[in-house]
Formats: sequence, structure tokens, C-alpha cells
Amino acid sequence: MICELRETIADPTAHPVLDLVPPEDSFREEVVRGLQAVPKQIPSKFFYDERGSQLFDEITQLEEYYLTRTEIGILHQHIGAMVARIGSHVLLVEYGSGSSLKTRIMLDHLMEPAGYVPIDISKEHLMQSVAALAKAYPELAIQPIAADYSSPLTLPAWGADNVVVFFPGSTLGNFTAGEAEAFLNQVAHVVGPGGGLLLGVDLKKDRAVLEAAYNDRKGITAAFNKNLLVRINKELGGTFDLDQFTHEAFYNETEGRIEMHLRSSHNQVVQVGSDTVSFLEGETICTEYSHKYSLDDIERLTAKAGFSVEEVWMDEHQWFAVLYLVAH
Ligand code: TRP
Repeated sequence: MICELRETIADPTAHPVLDLVPPEDSFREEVVRGLQAVPKQIPSKFFYDERGSQLFDEITQLEEYYLTRTEIGILHQHIGAMVARIGSHVLLVEYGSGSSLKTRIMLDHLMEPAGYVPIDISKEHLMQSVAALAKAYPELAIQPIAADYSSPLTLPAWGADNVVVFFPGSTLGNFTAGEAEAFLNQVAHVVGPGGGLLLGVDLKKDRAVLEAAYNDRKGITAAFNKNLLVRINKELGGTFDLDQFTHEAFYNETEGRIEMHLRSSHNQVVQVGSDTVSFLEGETICTEYSHKYSLDDIERLTAKAGFSVEEVWMDEHQWFAVLYLVAH
């Protein structure tokens, strides 16, 4: 009885989530495979359980974390030019749950949008943000999809004149070069010829500015990074001792990326369910890349997937760029 009641309260919207998240097994398999690889790594998509998504929201408000603030400034300043490029009756597809202010800036200014499709790995986060959006935009057609960014998609047929993917937050930078290429190909396929991509990317800049953004004084980024181990302990029967691993983030200039790691402070052995993983003192698990781009880098990367850059908007320091790209 109580369960039934909860369900009705938890999902009061007329926006059932289309659930394409791979079954739970893949969390265990991918974690164990990653921890057995050399060097050790865990796919960053697993950061975003409910707690991870919450911590991430906190990161975006940190003083050192200039990215979100700067991108929002660019959106506010140039939203008129952006929606003019996008045109009316657009089906806006967003990779990310749409909980952010950025989504609302778009929805506040789009001309008679045909609908909005947020795609996110965390079903809980998606449901919460869609409930809030549905309240604020009661006329808007919304189809939330819980999915991995690589899942193939079928979009609702809502009579749109144009399909545009909104991909803010420099999330593209969290992919490896190969993943970014595959993702951009998938986006080109989703929007079709003539469709658009409104893309936010973090630009190359002074190392100190970059490194401070991923090493905040409050330790929120460290907690976010370690939350991966918390998840493994809770969901996969892991025995990670959180005090035996430290958060580390540095700019790898050769690769043009911030790298986030968890560093083992001792030789130690950890269980993940029935699997055993050994760590040497100082050995790391790589948990995240955040690539930084020049405008040339972006142009080259997106051209491979058949996109051309139509317009670029930047802040006064040229720290961050929002680009409108069109697929051929
Ligand atoms: N894409 C953003 C960035 O690279 C946000 C982000 C993703 C992030 N993963 C993160 C920020 C981990 C801090 C830590 O900055």
C-alpha cells in the first residue's frame, strides 16, 4: 500500500520516462573491467547517481568553477541571435537532465518550440527536473528519455521543422577523442541534414585557472570524485576505504585536458563483490577527462562528423564558447 502511494506521489506528471538505461549488470561489469585494466579507470557516466548529480549541481555554483557561470552569461547575452539561428517549431533535444538554468533560458526564448526531449542517465534526476519543467512550461510537449549518451534514439513525431541538439556544459570534453567523434556522429544522425547543434565548450587557458576549477577549497569536487567509490561500496559490495584514496586533478597540457584521478595512498587490496583488485601505493584510477579546446580544435573535431560552424559566441575573457553548428 505504502509503495503504491509513493509511486503516485513520485510521478505526478504526464511525462513517463522512456527508460533505455542498460541493465544493472553493466555497472558491475564495467567497473570490474576498468579496475583490471592498466592503467585503472572507471567510466565517468557512473558519477551520476542521485547523490552524484546533487554534488555536481553544487560544483556548478562554486567560485572556482567558472564554466557554468560563464556559459550562462554567454547564453543570456546572445540568446536572441541563437534562437534566430534555430528558428521556430524546433524539437530541442538535450543531453543532460534539463535541470539547469540553461535549459530555461532556451525554453524562455525559443519561438513556438515543437517539443523538448531531455536525455539523462539518472532516471531520478530526470523525473525531478521534468516535473519542475512541466510546471513552469505547461504548454510544452516533453518526452524524457533515460539513456546512456550512446543509446540509439527514436524521437517523438511532433511535427517539428527542425531538430536541434543542445549540449552545454563542455560535456563533450568529458569524452575521449574516439567517444567524442562517435557522439558527434550520433548527433548528426539524430538531427539529420540541416539540423543543428548548439554546443558549449571550455576553451584552453591559463593552467592555474583550469586547475583551481577542479580543486575547489570546499572539497566538493573531491567528494564528487569519491562518490564513485561510495556507489561501488553500496551497490556492488565494494570494500573501498575512502580515507585510503585521495582526489587529484591536474592539467595535462600535451593532451589538452584536465584529468581527474583517485590515488591510492598505500599498497592495498579491495573487494568488489567476489572480484579482488590490488593497488600499489600511488597507483591511480582515472575517473574523468575534461578536454579543453581551441576554436580550431572544435572546428576540426566537429567537421569529421559532418558539421560546419555557423556562429561562435564567447565571453569577454574568451574562456568559454557556445557554437551553433549545422549538420550536412
Ligand atoms: N563537463 C564539465 C567539465 O568538464 C562538468 C564536469 C563533468 C565536471 N565531470 C566533472 C566538473 C567532474 C568537475 C568534476 O568541467
